[in-house]
Amino acid sequence: MNLTPKEIVAYLDKYVIGQNAAKKTIALALRTRYRRMQLDETLQNEIMPKNILMIGSTGVGKTEISRRLAKMMSVPFIKVEASKYTEVGFVGRDVESMIRDLVVNSISIVKAEQEESNRDKIDNYVLNKIVEKLLPPLPESASESKKDDYQMLLSAMEKRVEAGEMDDKIITLDLAKLNIEFDDSGLPPEMAKVQESFSKVFASINKEDNTKEVSVKDAKSLLRQEASQKLLDTASVNAEALRRAENGGIIFLDEIDKIALSEKSSGRNDPSKEGVQRDLLPIVEGSSVSTKYGTINTDHILFIAAGAFHVSKPSDLIPELQGRFPLRVELESLTEETLYQILTQTQNSLLKQYIALLGVEGMTLTFEDEAIRAIAKLAHRANENTEDIGARRLHTVLENILEETSYDADEYSGKEFVITKDLVHSKLDEVVEDDDLSRYIL
Ligand SMILES: Nc1ncnc2c1ncn2[C@@H]1O[C@H](COP(=O)(O)OP(=O)(O)OP(=O)(O)O)[C@@H](O)[C@H]1O
Ligand SMILES: [Mg+2]
Repeated sequence: MNLTPKEIVAYLDKYVIGQNAAKKTIALALRTRYRRMQLDETLQNEIMPKNILMIGSTGVGKTEISRRLAKMMSVPFIKVEASKYTEVGFVGRDVESMIRDLVVNSISIVKAEQEESNRDKIDNYVLNKIVEKLLPPLPESASESKKDDYQMLLSAMEKRVEAGEMDDKIITLDLAKLNIEFDDSGLPPEMAKVQESFSKVFASINKEDNTKEVSVKDAKSLLRQEASQKLLDTASVNAEALRRAENGGIIFLDEIDKIALSEKSSGRNDPSKEGVQRDLLPIVEGSSVSTKYGTINTDHILFIAAGAFHVSKPSDLIPELQGRFPLRVELESLTEETLYQILTQTQNSLLKQYIALLGVEGMTLTFEDEAIRAIAKLAHRANENTEDIGARRLHTVLENILEETSYDADEYSGKEFVITKDLVHSKLDEVVEDDDLSRYIL
């Protein structure tokens, strides 16, 4: 989390081309949270996060930026779609559930950290249990020399288990029943409570141990779970997780334009859109939300909202909500050059994906640079002529070029296949030039 803004931008640069304004704003917001955490408590409480609104047409990298951030950061982070929620009182998920999801995310981060720090203990526990099963213990009455031999055997066995030589052996395990964890993220709070008491009942029914025949390999992972659960102090994990979600949590609210009420579509506006916006107000501004793990205050949670705002405008959001997203960044539309860079310079670009996929068939796929230029050019033209769907256009364009090749890949096993500029043009010229055709195909 203590990456500098420049480092965050540098990381994002590997995956998202351009959009520097957005990257900078977000990197700064993240750094500000880090700075705030270094201050003394009274000042900390005064400094509120400045929520961000990202505006940019479809397929220009809004969600991609957040997806990458989520992977990079070890702070509690969730990405939710605003359009998924309904007004309180209606059937569906209410907006408070996003805070609960954030806490759940935070808990899994803290748990993973604890497991990491308990790693040696867990490893030991697993090894001892397995060796115990593989080597029957020596009777108490055994002579000293027997005991020495046994020690030798024991350490030899430990080595073999660690090296995985015994993985196929079957042993009988007595496992303590693991706590039953329901995935309750979709439940409304009242149900979540009912379900919690259910888990308690189940836990008491399942008190008796269960005995299982498993391979050593499976035993390793089963025992690992058991050990980490035994070592975990649930109360302190929950407290730490709540604290982190409160102070460092980030919620990425995607598709926020879908809950704006636009004049154009006023005929079909469903009343719950405005309700959802109103329900969002207290959460974004700061309020207490009760979760299964304790109450959390949302004052310092950072919200990053994003939307294409094709049909509606940011000003179509209710004013109170607009005001709660003071930082606005716009994402640029993609040019031919950006499309080319997206194809060639991103870490797991589409081209690399196709090359890897067809590599499985033993086919060596290569793209001439001129061909890639042509792809970018045609994708850009298709965006201009029909709808601008940003980088997503590359998916359809590439699929069109490669479909046949991909189908016949088995014939090229061990051979090279070069995508040339001519091939690209022969596949696509007709489609791109013909508006009607490209509306259907690209
Ligand atoms: N600037 C970019 N650099 C690299 N890849 C990009 C860029 N913009 C878009 N992409 C790619 O295009 C696809 C769609 O992008 P993304 O999901 O970010 O769109 P979006 O801006 O969220 O659009 P929407 O408003 O429709 O949700 C992703 O696969 C992403 O990798
Ligand atoms: Mg998106």
